Parts: sequence; C-alpha cells; structure tokens
Amino acid sequence: MPTDAIEKTALRFESLGVSSAADADTLFETLSAAARTEAAQIRVPESLEAFRVKWLGRRDGICSRVTENWLKPATGDAKKLIGAGLNRLRAQLEALIEAAKSSVADVEFGQAIDLSLPGIERPVGTSHLIRQTYEELERIFMAIGFSVVEGPEMETPYYNFEALNIPEHHPARDSMDTFYIEGSGGHLLRTHTSPMQIRTMEKQQPPVRIIVPGKVYRRDNPDATHGFIFHQLEGLAVDYDITFCEFRGVVDYFVRALLGPKVKTRLRPSYFPFTEPSAEVDVSCHICGGSGCRTCKFSGWIELFGSGMVNPAVYGFVGYDPERLSGFAFGMGVDRLAMLRYGITDLQAFFQNDMRFLRQFP
Ligand code: PHE
Repeated sequence: MPTDAIEKTALRFESLGVSSAADADTLFETLSAAARTEAAQIRVPESLEAFRVKWLGRRDGICSRVTENWLKPATGDAKKLIGAGLNRLRAQLEALIEAAKSSVADVEFGQAIDLSLPGIERPVGTSHLIRQTYEELERIFMAIGFSVVEGPEMETPYYNFEALNIPEHHPARDSMDTFYIEGSGGHLLRTHTSPMQIRTMEKQQPPVRIIVPGKVYRRDNPDATHGFIFHQLEGLAVDYDITFCEFRGVVDYFVRALLGPKVKTRLRPSYFPFTEPSAEVDVSCHICGGSGCRTCKFSGWIELFGSGMVNPAVYGFVGYDPERLSGFAFGMGVDRLAMLRYGITDLQAFFQNDMRFLRQFP
C-alpha cells in the first residue's frame, strides 16, 4: 500500500475511533503490511532514517499519532486491544529497521567495492640473486657436513687482523684498507669473513666444519668489479687428520657441484698470513671450456677464491694444539661467483635495486 494511502487510512481511523477487536486488528494489519512494503525498499541510510521518523518519530510519527488519537481516548477492552496491537507494531518496526540496517550496509559495501572488477595484483618478490647464490653454496657445503655460522659485521682489529696472524704493521693490512668506526674504541667494519674462523675456534673444540656467509667492507672505489660492500663465504675445516688431499678434494667437489662435472680446478701458489701454504683456486673457463675468451681474459682460467691450509700460528691464538691439528680454509667473493655464473658485467647491479635487473632472476 503506498504511503499516502496509509496516511489516509490512519486519518480515516483517527476520525472513526476504535470500537471493536476487528477494527483494531484491521488497523494494525494494514499498518504493518504498509511498513513491511516500505522497509523492503530501503537502500540508503537516508531512507532508513526517513522510515524511522515516519513510523516512530516522537512528534508526528504514525505510532505517536495512533497513541494520541486511538489509545488515549479509548476505554475498557478497546484500550487493551489497541495497546497490545500498538506494542506488536512497534516491535515489528524495530525488527524491520534492524533488518534494513544490514541491507543498507551491504548496498554501501557493494557500491564502494565492485566485486566484479579484477583484483589489484600485488607482485610477490623473489630472493635477490646474491641470496640465491648463498643458498646454493650453503646447500653444496651442508651436503658434506659443514654447518652455517654468522658473525658481527663490526669487528675488533684483534679478530679481523691480529688473531689471523696479521700484526699491526703487516703490509697485508694495506690491501684491505679499512673503515674504522669513530668513537667505537677502535672497532672497524670487517674486511673479510675470516674473523669468524677465530671466533668459532675460540668457542668450539675440533672437529670444526663451518661456512660463514656475510657482508664485508673495504675502502674501494665503486666500479664494475669493486664495491665498498660485498659478500663473502668463508670456510674452515679443522680436525686431527686433515691433509692437503682433503683440502684438494673438497675444492674439487665444490667446483663440480657449482659449475658442472666438466670444469677443472687448479691451485696456484698465493699468500695469506693465516694460511700456509696458500693457494688461489682457478677453474677452467666455463664459457670457452679453456680455449680462451673475454670472460677468462684469454687465459682459459678464472680465479675463483683464495684458500690454503690453516697457518699453525693461528692455532696459537685460539688455544688449539698446532702439533696435532690441521685444517684448511677458504674465502670466496659471492658477488663475483654470481657474476661469473650469470654473465653479469657490473657488480653495482647487485646494489642498485633496479627491478628490470632483479626480475631476471626469479
Ligand atoms: N680472507 C681472505 C680475503 O678476504 C680470503 C681467504 C679466506 C683466504 C680463507 C684464505 C683462507 O681475501
């Protein structure tokens, strides 16, 4: 029943007065049917409020008018009937308003969010190529019993140099020109991951088989192959029966696992204060197979990492017995490895966060 008709109904009843149960029932049935029809059309908060005012408004709402015009003047049974009918109507109206509230909320939600539109694609990141390379290296070494340890990037000169057999005025310090931290009492940013050799041996009795991934810092000017920050993987194995053969064997295993079974290794004499003898590990060029190309600078070999048998002098710093113990250590530049492996020509690409670069290594 349209709204104006209900108004008329109410008016008509106002003028008629209620004299019987049938009158009252008819009145309230008509009103409640009208209210249900109206409530069903509510879509927005404004019409919900209009509905509430029209029916339950204190001053001029239909319920107030019924009270004024019907309930108050009535007497006896009629008063009871009207009172009961009015209470029922109020309860119905409250229920209709509650129901309309949630459909208004649904409609608003539906307007704010068009569920038929395609969603916003949120790109899922991938791990950085350096992280991926670390994970691969860790997998290779963990397979033969090495475990992973990490250490502080801010070090003392003792761990970074002295305990590694690099005394104060040793020329090897020049090659690792260092960032010293002002006001730190002489601390520095570690120039290599080797300090973790010392920290591990101080804490742990042999056998030791560790690898140490981590960032290192040097005062290098950034160019295609240098940066003031780069990544290393250190390795250390110390036990009572480790010979040069074990060292050579692990190097071979590692290189094959990383670069494939065809790659050859070669140890070239080198120098590090904390290894004796020391060696650079070269691998046959995986690009040209050894015949010479730009990647290997036409030598057929690529320098992969520094290594050697642990210098017995180092054992003196950690309380190990140099007469009975032996071991080997190595330290590789992870950035360099990743560059070689993926043919990347600029080290800076790892640090620039250019998505076009990063996305190439999902
Ligand atoms: N710490 C050396 C460097 O940073 C690498 C290395 C580690 C060499 C362990 C031998 C043994 O150059």
